[in-house]
Amino acid sequence: MAYCMITTDLVEITNNKSVYSPREDSYLMMNFVLETINGDAVEIGCGTGLSILSLAKKNQSKNYFAIDINYKATILTNYNSNQNRISNIQVVCADSVKSFRREGLPGTLFFNPPYLPEDPVIDKYLSKLELAQFTGGKKGYELTSKIIEQLEDGDILYVIISSLSITPEQIQRLHSAHFFELKSKSVMDDGEILWLLKARKLR
Ligand SMILES: C[S@@+](CC[C@H](N)C(=O)[O-])C[C@H]1O[C@@H](n2cnc3c(N)ncnc32)[C@H](O)[C@@H]1O
Repeated sequence: MAYCMITTDLVEITNNKSVYSPREDSYLMMNFVLETINGDAVEIGCGTGLSILSLAKKNQSKNYFAIDINYKATILTNYNSNQNRISNIQVVCADSVKSFRREGLPGTLFFNPPYLPEDPVIDKYLSKLELAQFTGGKKGYELTSKIIEQLEDGDILYVIISSLSITPEQIQRLHSAHFFELKSKSVMDDGEILWLLKARKLR
């Protein structure tokens, strides 16, 4: 099952072909959360667990919660958690945070979502779980929009958006009851821009 190993200063992560393989967007999120989050947090869409496990290893007295809709990703995150002797994390297979009692969860959330627009030519060859790794909806940002709408008062969401789908100005216009701050930005070799935004609900 294991086919690739990622080693950082904090963790050793095994990946397999059923789970999103960490790439630029994953490292953008990992580096950001390691610099920014010192308390309890939830990662939606943990994949291999690279970001949330690094955070849990760094802040061993805090509690972390990892969610993925792909049960193979949750099994892998659990495996990676055990391999790195990390015990301050719970891993659950679920669709975002919508089925949880929110008062039981930390109010700091982060999500490196599937953000590509649907592609009728390629998508028909992908399984549902593969699509969930890459495709965020017809235009790409629909799942991100849904998660933003699930935010409650006081919640903070760190989320990545891509220029292949939507810009920070467009997402702000779309969610006028929310406030967005640009926290980090990365330009890919092919010109795609990834923005890491902080989102919260306006009172
Ligand atoms: C782009 S990958 C990011 C994986 C990992 N966080 C990383 O940065 O390498 C998106 C992840 O979100 C998961 N996902 C997609 N839709 C989801 C949903 N509605 N609820 C929870 N996880 C979801 C996918 O299964 C996938 O693991």
